[in-house]
Parts: sequence; structure tokens; C-alpha cells
Amino acid sequence: MFLTNEEEAMLNGEYGEALEIAISVLVKLGDIYEADRMIEVENAHIDSSSYFIIGESGLNLCEKFVNLGATFKVPATLNPLGIDPHRWQEFRVSKSYVEKQNRLAEAHISLGGIATWTCAPYQYGANLRFGQNVAWGESNAVVSANSVYGARTERLGDLTDICAAVVGKYPRFGLYLNENRRGQVLFKIESDKLDVKSFSYADYAALGFCIGSLAGTRVPVVTEIPKSVTWDQLKDFGAAIATGGSVGLYHIVGVTPEARTLSEACGGLKPEEVISIGVDEINETREKLSTTTEVKADIIVLGCPHYSVEQLKRAAIIVKGKKVVEGVELWIQTSPMAKMLASEMGIIDIIEAAGGKIHISGCFTMYNYAQEWGFGTLMTDSAKNAYYSSGITGVEVVFDDTEKCIEAATRQRS
Ligand code: F3S
Repeated sequence: MFLTNEEEAMLNGEYGEALEIAISVLVKLGDIYEADRMIEVENAHIDSSSYFIIGESGLNLCEKFVNLGATFKVPATLNPLGIDPHRWQEFRVSKSYVEKQNRLAEAHISLGGIATWTCAPYQYGANLRFGQNVAWGESNAVVSANSVYGARTERLGDLTDICAAVVGKYPRFGLYLNENRRGQVLFKIESDKLDVKSFSYADYAALGFCIGSLAGTRVPVVTEIPKSVTWDQLKDFGAAIATGGSVGLYHIVGVTPEARTLSEACGGLKPEEVISIGVDEINETREKLSTTTEVKADIIVLGCPHYSVEQLKRAAIIVKGKKVVEGVELWIQTSPMAKMLASEMGIIDIIEAAGGKIHISGCFTMYNYAQEWGFGTLMTDSAKNAYYSSGITGVEVVFDDTEKCIEAATRQRS
């Protein structure tokens, strides 16, 4: 990989040890993926903020950067911590875990990270624009940045995101390149049989998961999605598409910015495969995401990715006047900023009056010990949470619409 004189000097330690470590990681990565050179990035989203994910060695590296006097060269938003730092007891973690998580959070702040603590920074905290190069981690954030905004980022792994933010650069490969952004497989929604206009959030998540599984590592192009699709529906669709497959970019013809036409989405070439998606595929995916048909959940988790103010408002409307029944937990995950705004609007009071718990800054999906904590069945409106919860914890999982989840939390058991 070609390096400028300045990059060579960094690699030789002339700008200090922190930059030497960070750029050496990026150069190795660039060599592996045959990057031709480094590119400057305008901002970063750091996925390495959960101690549950990066553990002791990750904490050591972050603290080493702090001790060496490193700072992020570009604005860097931060992904959720493993737990809600204000309600950590509810995650049943040990004090020593909390202490490690707090040290990791402090290290990220010392490096200059922006305390967004959310996996949906594109809704609150980050600024993105079409065509800019950025360096983002967290699969749902990556796919949204690339697809919905038309910004450009590879799918950064944990700790390489820290190195990119310290250097302000990333090797040029993958989704930074025009040729890797063209749609390869076309998904035609059978709109005569499938009423996409009345799709729920969970339907969009099931559609995303189904497309991601079939696309694999290819860039999917989707047709027949109405322009009225909301930002939150795209968020759930994107999180699911990146869970079902290794997808960092999708196009929706007539909706996303690099897909004004089918031809533009496919870079003027023919898609290598055309796949139809109808009622059966959606129903099968919805069924596959549940491990049981018995809707008797004892923990209901919403907000993966983190709920927006609009989604909190919807949840408040559904739960208003009801009560979460004894022996059942209703957890809603969101960002500190969304909670602050929703508090101003009286939304949080309504949810809490009904017995729902709002968790900020955390990620139950990854820090998930539901089975050890005595929960038998988890219910969620998130395809990503459903997929990982059944895989990680072995609890029974029910995937369904938000309304059904809240109904299950508030329905008296016989
Ligand atoms: Fe966010 Fe955790 Fe889900 S980071 S997307 S709540 S897995």
C-alpha cells in the first residue's frame, strides 16, 4: 500500500507511540485487503465501547492510548456500553464488571469521544452527508450510513475503529470504492400479493433479515418499497439485513440516494441474480425468528437498534393506561438524547407509570444473560435481538409486532 511521507513517519514512530500503534494496525489491514492507499475520514463511530464485547485486552489498548496522550483526530460518536450505567443492578452484573465498564467509558471520553452511547448515532449525534468518507463500526450503523445517507464506510471491526479515529484515516478498500457499491442481486417484492404500504416495523425487520440471508456478502437492490417508508422502518430493515447477511450497503430503488433508478443502483450492469419476495418468504422468516409459538414471555425487550423519540411515543400510546403484569419485565432501550427529548414530552412518564423500564446507553442483546437470570422466554420486535438472543442465551424467543409485545407484557396470565 502506498504511504505518504507523513504516514511513513507516523509508522516509524516520529509522531509518537500512539500514532505508531494506530497506523501500524491500519497498514496491516490495508495490506490484507489490498488497499492502494489511505483515505482521510471525516468522522468515526466507535463500536468498542462495550466491555462485554472487547474485554480486558480492548480495555488495556484504550487505556494505553489515553496514557500515551492520544486523542481522536475526527469527531467520534460512541456505541452503547454493555449496560445502562444508571440502572446497572438490573443487568445483574458484578461490581467489578461495572468498574471495568466505567474505566472503558472514561477512556473513550478521554480520547475525545462524543458520549452518544447509541447504536443509532445517525438519528442523534452524528452528522453524515452524501459521498463523504467516514469510518464506522456497528453493523446497523454502517449499513444506514452507507445506504440511507450515501456516506462511505467499510464495516469496521472493534478497535480498528479506534485506530481510524486516532489517525483520521482508513485504508481505501471495500465499500469506499465505486465498483464495490453497485447492486449485485435484485430483490423484487411481489407488490401485487404483498401490501408493503401496510408493513409493520416487524415486517420490515423480517423483510430485511430474509434479504440479508439470501444476499450473503453481495449488495442487494430492492424494488417496490414505497417512498413513504419511514426512517425508523429503514433502521429496523437495515439492522436486520446486516444480521441476516454480511451486508454493509443496500439500495432501494426510488428511495435511497444511490438508487434513483434500477440502472443507477446496479452501476449500469445487469444484476447477477433476481429473487422474488412474497408473502411466504415474509411469513417463513417471521416464524424462523421465533423459537416458540407460545406467547408467554417473561421479559419483553424493545429498542434494538435503540428506539427513537417517535418509537418511544408509539410505545407510550400503546401502553398508556395499562400495567405491566407482575413477574414480567418490559425493557425499552434508547439513547440518552432520545430519552431526554422524550422526557420533555412526557413520554417517559407514561411508559414508567405503566411499569416499563427505560434503559439508556446499554445493549441487552449483547449483554444478555436472560436464561441465567431466570427468564424462560424473551419477546421482541427486533429481528437482530431475536436472532442473537436465541443464539447466545438459549432462551425461547418470540418475535412479533411492537403492539403484540406490549400486549404480552400487560396481559393478565391465567
Ligand atoms: Fe444496538 Fe445492541 Fe441491538 S448495539 S443494534 S441494541 S445489538
